[in-house]
Amino acid sequence: MRQFQSENEQMIIGGMKATDLADRFGTPIYVTEEDRLRENFRRIYDAFNKRMPTRIHFACKANANLAIMRVLEQEGSCIDAVSLGEAELALKAGYSPDRILYTGTSVSNEEMRQLVQRKVPINIDSPSQLRRLAQIAPGYRISMRVNPDVGAGHHQHVVTGKKTTKFGIPKGAIVNAYAEALALGFKPYGLHCHIGAGVQEVGPFIEVTDVMIEIANEVRDVLGLKLEVLDLGGGIGIPYKPSEHEMDVDLLADAITSRVKEHSSIRTLALEPGRYLVCDSTVLLARVHDIKDTPDKRFAGTDAGFNTLIRPAFYGSYHHIAVANKFGREPELTYDVVGPICESGDFIAKDRKLPRLAEGDVLVVYDTGAYGYAMSSTYNSRGRPAEVLVHDGQAQVVREAETVDDLARGQKIPSRLML
Ligand code: LLP
Repeated sequence: MRQFQSENEQMIIGGMKATDLADRFGTPIYVTEEDRLRENFRRIYDAFNKRMPTRIHFACKANANLAIMRVLEQEGSCIDAVSLGEAELALKAGYSPDRILYTGTSVSNEEMRQLVQRKVPINIDSPSQLRRLAQIAPGYRISMRVNPDVGAGHHQHVVTGKKTTKFGIPKGAIVNAYAEALALGFKPYGLHCHIGAGVQEVGPFIEVTDVMIEIANEVRDVLGLKLEVLDLGGGIGIPYKPSEHEMDVDLLADAITSRVKEHSSIRTLALEPGRYLVCDSTVLLARVHDIKDTPDKRFAGTDAGFNTLIRPAFYGSYHHIAVANKFGREPELTYDVVGPICESGDFIAKDRKLPRLAEGDVLVVYDTGAYGYAMSSTYNSRGRPAEVLVHDGQAQVVREAETVDDLARGQKIPSRLML
């Protein structure tokens, strides 16, 4: 888990006191440190590119904030987009269409038409989609997604590579699918898979690399189609708990690239990290408003609930918590850290040992840059929080908090109900 600096028990992020940010911008608030984003990108980009050309497609489903996408664009990132919305936001953030790959599932013809208009390459998820695209844009730039029957991930809902999931073309049918693509007039440039999310070990990535190499070789040998790009998807996990370790991306890069170089004619790799790039660049700051001691439990009631960060409630995920204004103090009491949502499933942490808390303390929820804001909601009619980018002792709002006007926007009361 990453370490933060402190001064007189005050946590520092991007050269600024976390409590100052909370006071200035209000809570809850997502705070992203620009330098960390850049470091994360460079670490994985360099590990692979010093071995073979590798495109890093930021999976912006993890965090589609325009400023964050912009920072990564400056670093040379490409984009993995799963919807027209993501593709459009990436274009707004300055990515050229050829640096975006759209990988959808249950894709409509209309969405494909819009992507074609914007010249965004399409990664095909099914024979049905292939045939429909052939009607819309014959010869369009496509890649193909295989279901490799290798899956892994931190929760069963995020394992995507197993044969019982809805994703990709089964590996037993993929060569035929390429044959059909050729017959329809396409010349697919790539082969893609994604095993799942939050994978902490190198093993499943190595396993799937071998499966993918075999498929690429079969496509080449049977159909004479030499694929340009092998895309291994995303899924690299990060250490959420103090006891967990960072994935050694040098080791990962070495294992993958040595296999690809030795056993295939593929010359370019692609990866689609989401979490790895953005997760630990961001903390969520939440203020403690209410301390409730009951005979059975001690609750710290904050302004961040599952509307702000759903991962603990949804996946049972662990997010480390510190106290911004008591940073480094020894844990003393056990709390359930809960939010303002009217459901008992509204918690950020359960049975968590923390320094003794008081009303007004600012909690720091770690590793919230991936699937934090992106999965937030306006449930209970609480607007989503602001997002701030910090760099060199300066903070800028990169997304404003939603107001009640935002919640009411687009709603209409029929005039007959106003009589
Ligand atoms: N590529 C594809 C095709 C994907 O479906 C995903 C994630 C990624 C890349 C990026 O995966 P990452 O590197 O971020 O693990 N909401 C869940 C994660 C769902 C991921 C879905 N697909 C969570 O909060 O853990």
